[in-house]
Amino acid sequence: MASNQEQIDYWNGEAGTTWVEAQERLDGLLAPISDRLIERAAAAPGERVIDVGCGCGQTSIQLAQQGAAVWGIDVSDPMLTHARQRAAGMERLAFSRQDAASADFTPDHALLFSRFGVMFFVDPIAAFSNLHTALAGDGRLCFACWQAPRDNPWMAIAGRAVQPFLPVPDVEPDPRAPGPFAFADPDYVRDILTRAGFSDIELESFRPTLHVADTLDEAIEFQGRVGPVARALAELEGEPRQAALAAAREALSGHMTDAGLDLAAACWIVTARR
Ligand SMILES: C[S@@+](CC[C@H](N)C(=O)[O-])C[C@H]1O[C@@H](n2cnc3c(N)ncnc32)[C@H](O)[C@@H]1O
Repeated sequence: MASNQEQIDYWNGEAGTTWVEAQERLDGLLAPISDRLIERAAAAPGERVIDVGCGCGQTSIQLAQQGAAVWGIDVSDPMLTHARQRAAGMERLAFSRQDAASADFTPDHALLFSRFGVMFFVDPIAAFSNLHTALAGDGRLCFACWQAPRDNPWMAIAGRAVQPFLPVPDVEPDPRAPGPFAFADPDYVRDILTRAGFSDIELESFRPTLHVADTLDEAIEFQGRVGPVARALAELEGEPRQAALAAAREALSGHMTDAGLDLAAACWIVTARR
């Protein structure tokens, strides 16, 4: 089976630590999406749920508070440690380190749930085929994934501004390579899920406005830590780094309002049945 090791290393390195540090801000930012996703998932009290790529545990905690019995799985030790600390003393909630693509599941779960945790598999058909084995007969799937960067100005505006400072890649990047935008194409998602054995596949386009920051300084600080700007800055040093940051700042400054920085986002809310 293809190995997810590169992503496992990524989420156990600086990315994992940064997500832990930025957890409160990220959960605030993503709240409109979590709320919609949790509403669509409609987990009933007592239902057994797997939160795939649960990260720092926000949605696992919310689902458990609704009465579901939640198992949060993830490959990132720093994020799982943080999730366990946040959930200390809570009932019906457990976390463990598992690669969703290769974990051994028992077929007694009602719901596979994920907020942006399923776009990082090297072999998505194999991974979803494995996840499929966790569902009971009438089990269901409900996850959120990002639409294309052009539909997500909240990340893309600053991301585009830093591109000119990066070395030109030798080969055109594969838009379906593991990463936040791997599932932007709805036909590709349908194909993966169909081949993995799912049925009744539906993609709802959800386009909220996200409150990115109150001030420009805050926006730059945040985007310099997570997302495309952070990934670009990791490759730059010295003057080019400063120039890239200034360009990101300039690009975002035109979008500031009295309310701060509110920008459009677009994701798919994907649902399917076993
Ligand atoms: C974008 S973060 C989302 C985290 C969390 N669901 C949230 O919304 O805050 C993606 C998560 O997927 C996890 N992940 C990546 N590959 C995985 C795999 N093969 N199995 C389980 N989790 C994985 C990462 O460690 C990370 O926590």
